[in-house]
Amino acid sequence: MLSSLTLASAFLALCIACVAANIARQLLFPNKKEPPVVFHWLPWLGSAVSYGRDPYKFLFAARAKHGDVFTFVLLGRNVTVHLGIAGNDFVFNGKETHVNAEEIYGPLCTPVFGEDVVYDCPNAKLMEQKKFVKFGLTTEALKVHVRLIEHEVVDYIKVSREFKGPSGIVNVPPVIAQITIFTAASALQGPEVRSKLTNEFASLYHDLDGGFSPINFVLPHAPFPHNIKRDRAQLTMRKIYEGIIADRRAGKLPPTTDMISHLMQCSYKDGRPVPDKEISNMMITILMAGQHNSSNVASWIMLHLANEPRICEELYQEQLDQLADENGNLPELELRDMEKLQLHSSVVKETLRMHNAIHSIMRLVKRPLPVPGTPWTVPPGHAVLASPGISANSEEYFPNPTKWDPHRWDNRGIEEDDESEMVDYGYGRMSRGTKSAYLPFGGGRHRCIGEKFAYLNLEVITAVMVRNFRFKNIDGREGVPGTDYSTMFSRPLEPAEICWERRSAEGA
Ligand code: HEM
Ligand SMILES: *[C@@H]1O[C@H](CO)[C@@H](O)[C@H](O)[C@H]1NC(C)=O
Ligand SMILES: *[C@@H]1O[C@H](CO)[C@@H](O)[C@H](O)[C@H]1NC(C)=O
Repeated sequence: MLSSLTLASAFLALCIACVAANIARQLLFPNKKEPPVVFHWLPWLGSAVSYGRDPYKFLFAARAKHGDVFTFVLLGRNVTVHLGIAGNDFVFNGKETHVNAEEIYGPLCTPVFGEDVVYDCPNAKLMEQKKFVKFGLTTEALKVHVRLIEHEVVDYIKVSREFKGPSGIVNVPPVIAQITIFTAASALQGPEVRSKLTNEFASLYHDLDGGFSPINFVLPHAPFPHNIKRDRAQLTMRKIYEGIIADRRAGKLPPTTDMISHLMQCSYKDGRPVPDKEISNMMITILMAGQHNSSNVASWIMLHLANEPRICEELYQEQLDQLADENGNLPELELRDMEKLQLHSSVVKETLRMHNAIHSIMRLVKRPLPVPGTPWTVPPGHAVLASPGISANSEEYFPNPTKWDPHRWDNRGIEEDDESEMVDYGYGRMSRGTKSAYLPFGGGRHRCIGEKFAYLNLEVITAVMVRNFRFKNIDGREGVPGTDYSTMFSRPLEPAEICWERRSAEGA
């Protein structure tokens, strides 16, 4: 009894000593060769709580105090943040030998995506895999996608209980999550996967998705039930894809020209065809990767349209002006139509600006990394963090940044790709993005290859919703819901309900 009491007080004393040492070190011995450290009371935990609760608020507050470059402690890791356009460049375009993505993302992502792909292979191989997928998203493929996406949304509206009758109230995020998984599966995954999605795949998808729970940043391999389910789902899903590939090879399934077929014809530079296991895991990656980001952005679009019905009517009018026949009927959507819908595109752009799903892009520092224009060097072992969402929501680049205003893009024109900015990391030429305050798809060698598809998907979903419904906020409610950061993805706080009313009289 006495000894356990002694032990407890000794332990307490030790804890107090650690906390005191942590505080004293920050206040008395700041390291002048490294960026300033955000003050934190507790060692190891550091700023995890305030960062986790609202990363943008935390980053804006730290910027106000320390400027664009500072370090904070996150669960035992030193994270050096570099904000602003220079910071985006610093992180996105850092040399491969100096900053590394796979060591940061691998533990979380590899059990979900599977072996030998993305972060479970050398960077050069990822570059080839990104090329395969990007080159599979040809104009021909996108033409087909527009039609498939439209059909999915139209069918959903027809059969869903959520949209019965002339008007109603809907909680946006779960409905949009279903719509986006159907559209992405139908367009990117092919008919077999789409047909399985309503039954066996649905729970597999759910289990696999459980692998993205935030605790897995710290304990990705702990034998929690969600990790056991994740691993079982990954294997089962891979086997299903391998079965589809085998059946297609054997000619048992009708020939198609979708992503699976495209990947079946791809070979690495050394002449080796992509193994079935890797095709399967790439397909799983595509299924998982774009999903949350697209679903959240689509939800935010609906919520903003309900909050500003005037823009919703402008969108509808844009479709009538650009696409309707002489009787005022709207035709099925085509890829070439989407280019005419400028305001639709601005709505997607503006929503990506305000609700960038990705608040933090991280890399692990492998070699001492001097921060240009400062006396500081970031030592190996730190993570570096860029947050393009910060510049996209800063007054200096986007006046009145908290206002959702699609028309702000009207006169901005298309930010033409500047020749001196173009690079090719092995998956096609693209902008380095070093001069842009707006990088919702990242930059550099890890830049998104799903951007074109993501845009198209979001524009078509928006167009179909707008031609079928009017939206408005529930009486007495103003603005859009707040943001829930608890899941790593910036999603609307639920319930996020809006009113819808069918336009049927107008014939769409
Ligand atoms: C609104 C939708 C989307 C957003 C906002 C988005 C955003 C991003 C961002 C910011 C990155 C860079 C990550 C980093 O540098 O660490 C990225 C990478 C990537 N995205 Fe997307 N994405 C979207 C949809 C998609 C879709 C639909 C696909 C699949 C076709 C996709 C596939 C990828 C892949 C393969 C990477 C590369 C990862 C790497 O090289 O490390 N994304 N995306
Ligand atoms: C974080 O930085 C502090 C101070 O520079 C250092 O003492 C500590 O070892 C670092 N921790 C890690 C995990 O790199
Ligand atoms: C979606 O967002 C997460 C972070 O929130 C990011 O790591 C991931 O790369 C994005 N997915 C894709 C495929 O764009």
